[in-house]
Amino acid sequence: MSRATNFPKLSRSLSICFLLLITIYAQAQRAKSPHHQGLKDVYKKYFPIGVAVALRNLHGDEAQLIKTQFNSITAENAMKMAAIQPKEGVFYWKDADSIISFAVKNGIKVRGHNLCWHEQTPDWIFKGADGKAVTKTVLLQRLKTHITTVVNRYKGKIYAWDVVNEAIDDNPNHFLRDSKWYQICGEDFIAKAFEYAHAADPAAKLYYNDYNTERPEKREQIYRLLKSLKDKGVPVDGVGFQAHWSLQEPDEGALRSAIERYSSLGLKIQITELDLSIYPWEISKRMKRPDESDVFTAELENRQVAKYAMIFKVFREYKNVITNVTFWNISDRYSWLNEFPVMGRKNYPLLFDRNLQPKKAYWEVINFKNK
Ligand code: G3I
Repeated sequence: MSRATNFPKLSRSLSICFLLLITIYAQAQRAKSPHHQGLKDVYKKYFPIGVAVALRNLHGDEAQLIKTQFNSITAENAMKMAAIQPKEGVFYWKDADSIISFAVKNGIKVRGHNLCWHEQTPDWIFKGADGKAVTKTVLLQRLKTHITTVVNRYKGKIYAWDVVNEAIDDNPNHFLRDSKWYQICGEDFIAKAFEYAHAADPAAKLYYNDYNTERPEKREQIYRLLKSLKDKGVPVDGVGFQAHWSLQEPDEGALRSAIERYSSLGLKIQITELDLSIYPWEISKRMKRPDESDVFTAELENRQVAKYAMIFKVFREYKNVITNVTFWNISDRYSWLNEFPVMGRKNYPLLFDRNLQPKKAYWEVINFKNK
């Protein structure tokens, strides 16, 4: 009788032991997994690791990934001028506020992007009631109102701003881009934008942000602009390398030279929009050609792994001047590069795949201590 009644007890105890073992094993696995020791933890002694986000990323699996991997965020679009002030005096705060609340709630820092750009800028800002271009005085006053209002609203919550974005021309024979800002104000709009931002929040770090910052010709143009701002006493703290890079560029020498060149001015550097396209750089929009493959082959992946390893090695070496590294989008599930510049062509530029799983490059970036 006792044997018969003890058997269920024994089997229950065994099941409990088994469950316990499984739980302990699962906890140990989780402790090893990236969801426990994220990029932000591994890079704690180096720099914050950021990511560009949209409202749709702040719920569900992407939100979870952001919280475990990143300790800085940037609004991909929600804080741009056209999004925030679509009409004169009409401010749309909802999306930007939600991004800030998410960050505050989760102890994540915020980079502000951006205050003055030639794209995603509403048309009204350049035009008077008669439809003609406004004067320099009017345009600067509008820029001041915009910057003061936005920077004030997020004072103490946004620790660094991209104040002026992409003001240098891509053509090396020209200096500044022939934007409406430049056409109406000449180069003064740049210094003014920094002054307005600094007046609104003296504690915020202020950045000039651009792409191809490590191509020698553009590097020298940007250097010239930054030097002239510094010489005039304009409150600029650093330069943002957008870092929309590829398997082809930059090479290690170009990256190092750029970091050295800008930091020789006493400026900090933030990597503001990092991704590594598997295709060579192109800027003009076009459709995908039928003969064009967009398969992420093992060969392409290995090259991407090597490139990510190289750039992060350099970033770590320059941790005294690099004060943030931010990825432009979370995972290959959504990247602006899936549509730009080639519509319909998939790209695989980030550290997480479409299922939000870490790619080989992720492990390369995270496991540097074992090398
Ligand atoms: O909001 C409208 C929506 O109302 C409309 O229905 C839809 C139809 O196309 O477009 C939506 O706007 C899009 C916007 O993103 C918001 O999603 C624009 O078409 C689209 O062009 C825009 O693209 C953004 C691009 O900046 C604008 O130039 C990308 O998402 C964003 O990743 C990209 O980010 C820039 C940085 O700010 C500066 N450095 C380069 C970087 C990549 O281009």
